[in-house]
Amino acid sequence: MKYDLAEEQRLLRESIREFVEHEIIPHAGEWDKQHRFPSEVIQKCAEMGLAGVMVPKELGGAGLTTLDYVIATEEISRGCASTGVILSVNNSLVLDPLMRFGNEAQKQKYIPPLASGEQLGCFGLTEPAAGSDAGSQKTVYREEDDCFLINGTKNFITNGPQADVCILFASKDPSLGNKGLTAFITESGFAGFNRGKAENKMGICASGTSTITVDNLRVPKENRLGAEGEGFKIAMSTLDGGRIGIAAQAVGIAQAALEAAQSYAGERVQFGRPIASFQGLRWMLADMAVTVDAARLLTWKAAVVRDRGERYTFEASQAKLFASETANRVADRAVQIHGGYGYIKEYPVERFFRDAKITGIYEGTSEIQRLVVAQKILKDHSLVCNA
Ligand code: CAA
Repeated sequence: MKYDLAEEQRLLRESIREFVEHEIIPHAGEWDKQHRFPSEVIQKCAEMGLAGVMVPKELGGAGLTTLDYVIATEEISRGCASTGVILSVNNSLVLDPLMRFGNEAQKQKYIPPLASGEQLGCFGLTEPAAGSDAGSQKTVYREEDDCFLINGTKNFITNGPQADVCILFASKDPSLGNKGLTAFITESGFAGFNRGKAENKMGICASGTSTITVDNLRVPKENRLGAEGEGFKIAMSTLDGGRIGIAAQAVGIAQAALEAAQSYAGERVQFGRPIASFQGLRWMLADMAVTVDAARLLTWKAAVVRDRGERYTFEASQAKLFASETANRVADRAVQIHGGYGYIKEYPVERFFRDAKITGIYEGTSEIQRLVVAQKILKDHSLVCNA
């Protein structure tokens, strides 16, 4: 594996960084405060190809790699973690399963509007009683003459309040556990598709999260995604990709917190000198910088393994676990370095601290990532030194 980026990737990073400096950073604090979904900036990101980064050009996407996608997601999230997750869900949890499991007609119908930003997608897996235990779904479906009839409730659905398309999972018979699940492509315009009110969250406040209740939702037969009974594997393999996106989001938050702390420590004078000159703070900043880089490299590694076409479940979980814990620790240290100023809303580190928390919860908690990592290393000892 190479540890440096190609020229095109550096250019991609620079162009997104410039966009973020002008179009996102000046507004992100206000969007957060007002809990306002940043529709105009999502549209601009889509015009830059960021709604469908890995979608082939012939289907309206940017035709780029997973490594490009993580570079983009880190840069966007460095400015606004809410914008980062809105795009990440559309890319990883909606377009990716459509590309991998959709038939030709489904791809032609659903991918171009989602990749161009004309529509937005969400992923309906989590339920009130099926969080980490994603296989224990209570949402059920049955076949009618010309459609599937689905009933149940999904919760904590990112993009739920705005989504036009939802990849929805339901069980034929809950007693079958994860073997009973099937995936469906549903539209918010289908009769029986109801959104709950937007949740009032601790962080990523500019992104929308809601319940989705389906009440005799009629889904045309041609909208089953993949084979019947394959839903759990579709969900899990989709989340492998999603976890790389969340790792990149976490690296972006951590990078923003590190930069804020560096700059504050250089300016803030106490005891007659900048606080950055005190060894206690220098060590703190050094640890922050080292872990942010380590998290970034693990995220790049997961992306590269995926781009090689290999199974990357382990690498994705490893990256998400380390990057989310890094984001939490680095944001916490950044608040600490700011002292009292870190605890008030005038300084962005307070937002980074709140935004970091979710990265260790959604798309599989840190505890679930540890289970995935442990299962793999206990089966395959060579992985421990696999670079
Ligand atoms: N890829 C492909 N197949 C997979 C897979 C993967 N990553 N992981 C598991 N499978 C397959 C297994 O091979 C197995 O297949 P067989 O039955 O043929 O042997 C089958 O799925 C069942 O696997 P497990 O027995 O390991 O399943 P489990 O029920 O014990 O669950 C788990 C394992 C890791 C705990 C899993 O349930 C999990 O990841 N839970 C967390 C759920 C999660 O991440 N939710 C996030 C919600 S979405 C969200 O947050 C989005 C948002 O809005 C931002």
